[in-house]
Amino acid sequence: MNNGLILLSRINVKGITFENRYVCAPFDIAKATEDGMITQELLSIYSQRKGPSLIIVEQAAVAHAGQYREKLIHVDRDECIEGLTKLAEVIHRNKQIGVVQINHAGSAADVGLTNIEAVAPSAVINPAFKRTFPRALSIKEIQEIKEDFVKAALRVKKAGFDGVEIHNCHGFLLTQFMSPLTNLRTDEYGGSLENRSHLLLEITTEVRKAVGDDFLLLVRLGLDDLLPGGLTLEDGCKVAEKLVEVGIDILDVSSGMLPPFALKGPAMLRDMIKTVKSRVKAPVIGAGELSDIEIAADMVENGEVDFIALGRPILNQPNFVENLIKKINK
Ligand SMILES: Cc1cc2nc3c(=O)[nH]c(=O)nc-3n(C[C@H](O)[C@H](O)[C@H](O)COP(=O)(O)O)c2cc1C
Repeated sequence: MNNGLILLSRINVKGITFENRYVCAPFDIAKATEDGMITQELLSIYSQRKGPSLIIVEQAAVAHAGQYREKLIHVDRDECIEGLTKLAEVIHRNKQIGVVQINHAGSAADVGLTNIEAVAPSAVINPAFKRTFPRALSIKEIQEIKEDFVKAALRVKKAGFDGVEIHNCHGFLLTQFMSPLTNLRTDEYGGSLENRSHLLLEITTEVRKAVGDDFLLLVRLGLDDLLPGGLTLEDGCKVAEKLVEVGIDILDVSSGMLPPFALKGPAMLRDMIKTVKSRVKAPVIGAGELSDIEIAADMVENGEVDFIALGRPILNQPNFVENLIKKINK
């Protein structure tokens, strides 16, 4: 039986030491103000998430039009920096590395909240969220969204975080570009896999240029849409290879159009994670019902993954990982 000690081993990425292999996965909890500012309640909840070496702060909206639910953290204007600075301080006080996930919901936006027509690569209903018919983005609007991501990343850096994560999974805008089910464009952003991943790769490249080399850059990549006719694992692996080429530091992986809950756990993404890990040189974060110490430790020991991210266990019990670590140390 695996004693799990490998999960407490340190790992170094670009000169930054991560104290163990546990990551707090990004999961939105709708505790910001109506206009996306950090609240005392959010600070308190994050301060309780002791244990993981890395905290990936839940998705923050890079533009108001890209908000998919109420009370989501925003990072769309400089006003947001003050609250985010407090959040970075809370995470650092617990001696954790802090990264913020940045997102645009595209056709998954809640238009009842945003009062703006939802946008997407093409006018196709989102198969995961099944909300209103979106409007296809013009090239000019795509360039603006690219800038929104870059500005958001710079705000995250200004707030004192250690890095930023670009959200490209679970049916949101960049996933919509990547998926043949939702991207019917015939310009340079549609058609081949290369074109469908063009926006993600451009954003990643520009964010890297803007934040510099001494800031962690992660992408959470949906590797497989889990839907017939959608992005396949082989497609996802090809994009992962490109992301490493353009300079990401850590590859965080999940499913594409549908969330991982579409599959039955535990470790429902294990094969997917292992496959991509064998294809890329960058450290890989995996998730999907990985709270079982033995399974997680086996995955790390076999070289299938570098970091284990937990979502719902921490949602239900903020110091879940602190307790797991005590259990491993017994
Ligand atoms: C309430 C909730 C909100 C979530 N929000 C996000 C999110 O903002 N960004 C993201 O990449 N994943 C999000 N996820 C997915 C989690 O990060 C994680 O991948 C998923 O819950 C599987 O891990 P688990 O089995 O440990 O919960 C969310 C999950 C839940 C349950």
